[in-house]
Amino acid sequence: MIATEEKDINGLRAAGRICAQALQLMMKSAEPGMTTLELDRIGEAFLNRNGAKSAPRAMYNFPGGTCISVSPVIAHGIPNERVIQDGDLINIDVSAELNGYFGDTGASVVVGAANAEYEKLLDAAKSALEKALAAVRVGRRLNIIGKTVQHEAKERGYNPIFDLTGHGIGRQLHDKPSAVYNFYRPEDRRVMENGLVLAIEPFLTAGRGHVVEQSDGWSLKTVDDTIAAQFEHTVIVTKGEPIILTLP
Ligand code: CO
Ligand code: CO
Repeated sequence: MIATEEKDINGLRAAGRICAQALQLMMKSAEPGMTTLELDRIGEAFLNRNGAKSAPRAMYNFPGGTCISVSPVIAHGIPNERVIQDGDLINIDVSAELNGYFGDTGASVVVGAANAEYEKLLDAAKSALEKALAAVRVGRRLNIIGKTVQHEAKERGYNPIFDLTGHGIGRQLHDKPSAVYNFYRPEDRRVMENGLVLAIEPFLTAGRGHVVEQSDGWSLKTVDDTIAAQFEHTVIVTKGEPIILTLP
């Protein structure tokens, strides 16, 4: 959606904040020995307590309140009885609707014992998001995001995941523009306009950069079983720095 009116901006801010707070709570609560379903319940209960609804559950009948993906699964992981192990690299993605507005945020984290290989990837993925956010501005090509993400990934020795994209968001979870690519596409000439609401979500992997759907019909795993990480914010495009909506 295009959000230039204060009413819309405030609505989006409120939805974004709830998502960010739920994500923060889940990251803090995640510990070895707990199941991904237990972790999901903490997040969804928080959303519901605050008057928000899980977007994937409401919009797509996803069998969970949030997406929890244990590496090498990197997206749309279904919360279940799987026990989180010490040192697991997991991704938590929270999207929710509050008063007709949607927010979407995600982060990857190592649960328990840190590991240099994982930390290096997390660092690179975080940096890719930060640099992409810094490049977002009215009048620039939308694909400056993909160009920036791919460049940063390469610089750090990784690939973006070519199959996974960000998206427009606002009054629905997935709005126009339908795909915000995480790699450079010179033929993508779309330009960012003032008030455009975007979910920007670089995915980086140590592998070739492709995913495959698992037999559960949802979870997406890297084809080569390599580690992957994602960080995501929902933002509004402005003439200056974008407004980041998914802050706690
Ligand atoms: Co998300
Ligand atoms: Co998203």
